[in-house]
Amino acid sequence: MDTILVLDFGGQYNQLIARRIREQNVYAVIESFRNITVKDIIDRGYKGIVMTGGPNSVNDQSSPHFDPSLLDAGVPVLGICYGAQLIAYMAGGTVAAAGAEGEYGRTQLTRENDELFRGIPESSICWMSHRDRIVSVPEGFCVTAATPQCSCAAMSDRSRKLYAVQFHPEVTHTQYGSQIFSNFLDICGCERQWAMSAFATSAIDRYRRELCGKKVLMALSGGVDSSVTAALLAEAISDNLTCVFVDHGLLRKNEAEAVETVFRPRLGNGLVCVDARERFLRELSGVTDPEAKRKIIGEQFIRVFEETARDLGGFDLLAQGTIYPDVIESGKGDSAVIKSHHNVGGIPSDIRFLGIVEPLRDLFKDEVRRVGIELGLPAYLINRQPFPGPGLAVRVMGELTEEKLGILREADAIFREEIDLSDFAGHPDQYFAVLTDTSAVGVKGDSRLYGSVIALRAVTTEDFMTADWTRIPFDILEKVSVRITNTIPSVARVVYDITSKPPATVEWE
Ligand code: XMP
Repeated sequence: MDTILVLDFGGQYNQLIARRIREQNVYAVIESFRNITVKDIIDRGYKGIVMTGGPNSVNDQSSPHFDPSLLDAGVPVLGICYGAQLIAYMAGGTVAAAGAEGEYGRTQLTRENDELFRGIPESSICWMSHRDRIVSVPEGFCVTAATPQCSCAAMSDRSRKLYAVQFHPEVTHTQYGSQIFSNFLDICGCERQWAMSAFATSAIDRYRRELCGKKVLMALSGGVDSSVTAALLAEAISDNLTCVFVDHGLLRKNEAEAVETVFRPRLGNGLVCVDARERFLRELSGVTDPEAKRKIIGEQFIRVFEETARDLGGFDLLAQGTIYPDVIESGKGDSAVIKSHHNVGGIPSDIRFLGIVEPLRDLFKDEVRRVGIELGLPAYLINRQPFPGPGLAVRVMGELTEEKLGILREADAIFREEIDLSDFAGHPDQYFAVLTDTSAVGVKGDSRLYGSVIALRAVTTEDFMTADWTRIPFDILEKVSVRITNTIPSVARVVYDITSKPPATVEWE
């Protein structure tokens, strides 16, 4: 089967690149640049190579580099962001810091004629996220696209089939990203032979074999990822699976009750609910740093699962609904830590389980939803908006108190209710309120109020790796603002977050 190698230099979107190639029915494998040589690449007969982005600067000698003979190996190469800069560097061009200003998010791209851009309009939107840029193009290369801030947004050496793009064709916000991958696969001469065969069926078979006779404790939050994981493992090992739901006191309004209502009828005694509210709030008391909060929550989750496992007579393995964005943002391989997701970067090293089972670890949210549909889960469960494991702890800025959590819970419930009731067609994929650590002056009932500022966040995204802020109509925002300020006495202002990811993330902490 024709295979593309995704040569990993530590970018945030590497699995997305593999996924975009999968979508074109061509198989792709990801390998770290550390674990492979040019000889391996030739011997294994890869049809093409995609060099990924990464957090480093090619001019830094300690940053990832690769054997320049790759460029003459006769295998087509597409470099993306850091990968593009590395091609320029390896081929004798120059890369330099862009000065104080980087280029992030939605950008207008103008292309020249090049087979990589076949079928794409002369002007389109691409997604940028970079500080360094190619300032002099190596011999044999031509500039093939530019943006207002970047004179070399793409370059190619057609004779050697080498292509480089500074922007990210793998993110959905790049308008013609899929077309660019399709064109590259044509350049590589790939046949579209691969299909994402029923993931659920093969995963169930695999876990039925691998977990035979093992007792598994499943961390169930009631969100899409853990619900799909639980359904998949229930098919594989049924009676040996117990699901544990932990109320850590950082849940949304009525969340614990909703989990009971949905899962008790399905799981019966296979569902155990643990009230750990006091414990989490005690451990988080006085903590303000977001990463410290996440680490404490990750550790406390594990401790609660260990104690529950002991109380229930012992378990071999812990199962979690970890998905790819959790893994990559927590700093996998050479990638930078963006935030330590509670179920990856927040896990202590000394856990008292023999291992962790994570069937969805390589998938994106929308792929997980497709697996959920295959498993027959109800639509309302599959389409729930995500809620992070650390819950409201990463939406109350700074120190947590019961009072602040109460304010946020009310504001968040109002915002979600108004969105759910509206017939706004561009329904966001995730929407919630944040309690900022800023105070502002207001006037309520002829009196001065020096009160809280609530921020509203709503994003439109396919896979949560990149996201755009949702253009919610002003009349809905107005209704939300009026309801929040009228019903929560201590709130002085409501603001709306209009930042995409990148440069922001979805959550505020
Ligand atoms: P960010 O803020 O990283 O969020 O852009 C991307 C998606 O991941 C969710 N998120 C988490 N989910 N544990 C989780 O299970 C975490 O620690 C965590 N942090 C963020 C976030 O809500 C969004 O859907």
